[in-house]
Amino acid sequence: MTDASPVAATPAPAKKPTLPDAQKVTSVQHWTDRLFSFRVTRPASLRFRSGEFVMIGLLGDNGKPLLRAYSIASPSWDDELEFYSIKVQDGPLTSRLQHIEPGDEIILRPKPVGTLVHDALLPGKRIWFFATGTGFAPFASLLRDPQTYEDYDEVIITHTCREVGELEYGRRLIEDIRSDEMMAELLGAENIAKLRYYPTTTREDSPKMGRITDLMRSGEAFADLGVAPISPETDRAMICGNLAFNLELKEMLEEFGLEEGANSKPRHYVVEKAFLD
Ligand code: A2P
Repeated sequence: MTDASPVAATPAPAKKPTLPDAQKVTSVQHWTDRLFSFRVTRPASLRFRSGEFVMIGLLGDNGKPLLRAYSIASPSWDDELEFYSIKVQDGPLTSRLQHIEPGDEIILRPKPVGTLVHDALLPGKRIWFFATGTGFAPFASLLRDPQTYEDYDEVIITHTCREVGELEYGRRLIEDIRSDEMMAELLGAENIAKLRYYPTTTREDSPKMGRITDLMRSGEAFADLGVAPISPETDRAMICGNLAFNLELKEMLEEFGLEEGANSKPRHYVVEKAFLD
C-alpha cells in the first residue's frame, strides 16, 4: 500500500504590504504644534531643480494613496529629500503624516514640477524670495543652491508668520548657511554675504512686526534693507505663501511693473501656492 496521505499545502508566506514609490523616513523635527520638517531617502533616479515640488503621502484607509503637493526643501545636491509641513489636526493627510518616525515609509512620486525655478526668470541684479508660513520650503532649497548666488548680486528672503516660533525653521536654516563650513565651501563666503533675511510676525511681538505687503507699501521694508523700491530693470521675485498673500503680492509686483514668468516664458516673477492640507 502506498501512503496516499495528502501533502500538507504549505501556506503562502504572508505578503507584507509594500507602498508604491516608498521612501524611508530618516529624521523628523517638530518646530511648533503646527509645524514639522522631515527627511526621507532620495530615489537614485530623482533629479530636480531647486524650488520644484513632488507629490508625497501615505496610504489612505481605503488602501489608495493619499497624496499632496510638497515643495522639496532640500537643495538638488543633497543625498536626501527634506520637506517642511503644517500639521492640521483634521487634515486628511497631515493629521497622520505628523506622526511619522524614522524608519517609517512614505509614498513619493518621483516627478518633480513647479514654477519657482531660475529658468522661469530673466537675468536680474536682485532676487526676492517672498514667503509666508510653510511657503518657506522651496526657498530652503533655492537658498542652498549655488546658482541663486551666481545669478544675482543680492538675495533677499522675507518670511512673514503669525508667531515667532513659526520663523524658527527658516531662521535656523539661514544661520546654518552663514555658519556652516560646508556651506561656505559650497556656496562661497562672498556669495553668502549677498544673502539678506527679513523675518516679520503679525500676531506676536518680534523685532519686525507686520505683513511684508504692508511693510513694502509703506516703504518701511525698502528703508530697513537699504534698497530702492522694486523695479523690472533690476529685481526678480518668487512668491510662495497662502492664497491671499500670493494674490496681494502679485498685484503689488505688477504695479511695480514686473510681469509673471513661466518655464516656457521667463519674465520678472513667479508664484506658487504653499501646500495646505
Ligand atoms: P495675519 O496674521 O495678519 O493674517 P497663515 O498662517 O494664515 O497662512 O498666515 C501666515 C502669515 O501670512 C500671517 O502672518 C498672515 O498675517 C500673513 N498673511 C495672510 N494674508 C496675507 C496677505 N494678504 N498679505 C500679506 N500677508 C498675509
